[in-house]
Amino acid sequence: MNKEKILITGGSGFLGGYLIRAAMNNFEVIATYCSNKPDYSGISWLPLDLTDTDRIKTAIAETDPAIIIHTAAMTNVDICENRKKRTNTVNIRATEAIAKTAATTGARIIYLSTDLVFDGENPPYSEEDKPTPLSYYGWSKWQGELAVAAANDNHVIVRPSIIYGPPAILGSSFSESLRNAWHDGKVTKLFSDQFRTPIFAGNLASALIELTKGNFEGILHIGGSERTSRHEFGIHLAEALGIGKNLLEEFSISKVDFTAKRPKDVSMNIEFAKSVLKTELYDCREGIRKAYS
Ligand SMILES: NC(=O)c1ccc[n+]([C@@H]2O[C@H](COP(=O)([O-])OP(=O)(O)OC[C@H]3O[C@@H](n4cnc5c(N)ncnc54)[C@H](OP(=O)(O)O)[C@@H]3O)[C@@H](O)[C@H]2O)c1
Repeated sequence: MNKEKILITGGSGFLGGYLIRAAMNNFEVIATYCSNKPDYSGISWLPLDLTDTDRIKTAIAETDPAIIIHTAAMTNVDICENRKKRTNTVNIRATEAIAKTAATTGARIIYLSTDLVFDGENPPYSEEDKPTPLSYYGWSKWQGELAVAAANDNHVIVRPSIIYGPPAILGSSFSESLRNAWHDGKVTKLFSDQFRTPIFAGNLASALIELTKGNFEGILHIGGSERTSRHEFGIHLAEALGIGKNLLEEFSISKVDFTAKRPKDVSMNIEFAKSVLKTELYDCREGIRKAYS
C-alpha cells in the first residue's frame, strides 16, 4: 500500500531533521532545503527558496502531499530585526502562499510558530492569550499564524519554546552551543532571569507527527513541562554531560543590549496541549536524558 505523502519544509533545519526521522517509517517524506542540502538518503529532497512564491505553489501542486509541516523560516531574531523586508517575504508571505496552496490541494498544514509571539509580561501563556510580540521575528511568526488560520481550516499552529538536543541531521540548538563551548573549556554566561519552557526536539517531533493524524484544528502551546531559566537548564545539561559547574556563570538579561528586544518570561501553560496529545511532554531532566543519553 502506498504511504501518505508528507512535505516537511526546512528539512535542512534543526527541527526538520528530527521530523524527517520521525516521519520516515510511516510516510513518504519530501523535505525542502534552501542553502544547505543534507547528505541524507531514504527521502526525497526538494530545493525550495521561500522568496519564490510561484515555485512554492508549483512545488506543492507537483508533490501533492496529504500533510505539510512548515518549519522553514528566518529564525535568527536579530537578523529578522535588521532585515524586515526579507523576513516579511520568508516568514509571512511564503507561509501565506503555502497555506493557501494547501487549502486548494486539500493538505493539512501544521505551522511552527514560537513562544516569542508574547511580550513576557503575563506568564504563563495559554492559547487564549493575545500575542504581543516585542521583536519583528515574533511579529512575523504571529502574522504567519494569522495567514495560516485565514487560508486553511485544516491547520494546526504550534508554538514551541526553545527546542534543544543534538542535531538529528543538520542544524544546531541552544544545548549544542553549550556542549560545544564546554567541550572547548569555555565558561558560558547564562541568564538566570529569562524563563521559557524548553522542549527536546525529539519530543516535539513526536507530538507533531501525532498531530498529522486526527482532526485537531487550532493553536497548541507545545513546550516542555517545566518553566526554567537558561542557567537552570544549563545546570541540568551540565549534570547530564558530567561537566563541572565551574563552566557556568549566572548572568542577567538586562545587561545585554540586543538588537531585537527579548521577553523576560514567556513560559507557557501546556495543559491544553497535554489534554489533546497522547505524547507525553517531558520536563528538562527527562528531555535532556532522552536527548543526550
Ligand atoms: N529552534 C528553536 O529554539 C525554536 C523555538 C521556537 C520556534 N521555533 C520555530 O521552529 C521552526 C524550526 O526552527 P529550527 O530551529 O529548526 O530552524 P533552523 O534550524 O534555523 O532552520 C531553518 C530552516 O529554514 C530554511 N530557510 C531559511 N530561509 C529560507 C528561505 N529563504 N527559503 C527556504 N528555506 C529557508 C533553512 O534552509 P537552509 O538551511 O537549507 O537554507 C532551514 O531548513 C521555525 O519556524 C522557528 O521559527 C524554533
